[in-house]
Amino acid sequence: MAVLNLGGSVICPSGPDVGYIQRLLAGLSDIRPLAIVVGGGSTARAYIGAGRELELNQFQLDLLGIAATRLNALLVAGAIPDGVFVEGVEEAAAVYGAAVPVLGGTEPGHTTDAVSLLLAEALGEEDVVIVTKVGGVYDRDPTSHPDARILEEVEAGALLREASEKGSTAGARYVLDPLSLIIAMRSGIRIRVIGPDPEDVRGALLGQEVGGTLVLPR
Ligand code: UTP
Repeated sequence: MAVLNLGGSVICPSGPDVGYIQRLLAGLSDIRPLAIVVGGGSTARAYIGAGRELELNQFQLDLLGIAATRLNALLVAGAIPDGVFVEGVEEAAAVYGAAVPVLGGTEPGHTTDAVSLLLAEALGEEDVVIVTKVGGVYDRDPTSHPDARILEEVEAGALLREASEKGSTAGARYVLDPLSLIIAMRSGIRIRVIGPDPEDVRGALLGQEVGGTLVLPR
């Protein structure tokens, strides 16, 4: 079974989207074992923005982001009958199978993408499904290129090279943070980046072809 990463942009676009969370979780009730990593969304952006204005350093800003992801993870964990909120990857691995571990960020320096990959590695799972608003990895930055298209497949190594050349914050093509790509490559973990449709999320976890982008671990 795959590790599921719920991007903050889908579960907390401008505050928690309760209707979406309900629809999504209803479709996952029979998918076990399952582990879920939750992003920070608008809450993270609001606090990181405020922290920036107050001139907090990057480490402090990341701590604010982590707190926001954990707030969302607490919400999602509470809405799953056998969901358990945990703070770290080791704790998640310890309960995996007996319960559905739900976690947010862990430490500064990366995003929840990397947490998902580290969790898959710890669990010995070979697939991570990342749910995003943008629905995949584009052939160029869609914010500045309206004709940008979602790639069916891309190699993690190619994304990593681009990220190191242009900087990892250089736009929506870089949906995956560099650490997540490194972990994927060293452990042969496939990443499927998809859009928010609850049926697609279910299908992707069941290994069905649902579109989006497959990031190959090479
Ligand atoms: P997200 O994983 O939601 O980041 O964590 P993101 O990819 O920027 O956001 P979306 O999903 O596209 O909306 C939010 C922030 O929390 C901090 C980082 O600052 C990150 O940008 N964070 C998160 C960490 O420092 N460590 C973690 O393990 C996770």
